[in-house]
Amino acid sequence: MGNVTAIYFSPTGGTKQYVCAVARGLAEKFEEIDLANREARGQEHEFSAEDLVVVGVPVYYGRVPQLPDEMLRGLHGNHTPAVLVAVYGNREFDDALLELSDLCEKQGFYCAGAGAFIAQHTFSEKIAGGRPDAEDLKLAKKFGRGLKLAMAKKGERKVSVPGNRPYRTFEVAPFTPKGSKKCTGCGVCARECPAGAIAQEKPRETDAAKCIRCLACVKACPAQARKVGGPIYGVVARKLEKELTKTEKEARLFLP
Ligand SMILES: Cc1cc2nc3c(=O)[nH]c(=O)nc-3n(C[C@H](O)[C@H](O)[C@H](O)COP(=O)(O)O)c2cc1C
Repeated sequence: MGNVTAIYFSPTGGTKQYVCAVARGLAEKFEEIDLANREARGQEHEFSAEDLVVVGVPVYYGRVPQLPDEMLRGLHGNHTPAVLVAVYGNREFDDALLELSDLCEKQGFYCAGAGAFIAQHTFSEKIAGGRPDAEDLKLAKKFGRGLKLAMAKKGERKVSVPGNRPYRTFEVAPFTPKGSKKCTGCGVCARECPAGAIAQEKPRETDAAKCIRCLACVKACPAQARKVGGPIYGVVARKLEKELTKTEKEARLFLP
């Protein structure tokens, strides 16, 4: 096997933890590419057929997050195996793995294995709070180890993932985070926003057309000045809590 690279889009950190755990199961050492970083996303990365990538995204509305630019555009495989990871907040992953598999194939990769894992929901710490926990990450690492063995034994095999085409349609959540009076104008949120929806010179405002509601800015703000306020957010969060806190789901793994 050539180099292993952990590639993730992870605005609030859950996906990154899973992707790195899977990569640790595949190799002692691996590179990382952070696709939430707009600069890193704009760079070109080439991979050979001997390399292996682990590509992970959070599930948004049952889909891959829809950025203003193409998330995987800088990744170029050459019949490179990709282990796909979808991380979701205890509702469902719907068509996210299938969409990710299609996007990766367009970039020259093939799906060599896949996993759908649970992490705390972005909109409420009451939903799958504290996940991924130690057990979740142990399982993800074991999945990586198992995949390595299966690939060595069975050779090149494309793994199918569940989902439907056309992919699920959705309406974007009707709220965006904003900066409060506590905002010091430091610009961390503008730098950290994966969608480029916050201007350095006006960090209290959010471009609703670009914002993907990932809440990376809320997490990054050193003054805790960014919040999603308003009654609609409260109603959505309470509804999700009611529906998604009854039971916690388990990971689903797809191996060759
Ligand atoms: C806009 C948006 C839409 C989401 N849609 C879903 C969904 O359809 N199903 C689900 O189970 N979780 C959903 N989630 C929850 C995230 O998938 C989950 O919290 C994920 O762990 C976030 O990944 P991160 O920690 O890497 O940012 C959504 C979160 C956001 C922000």
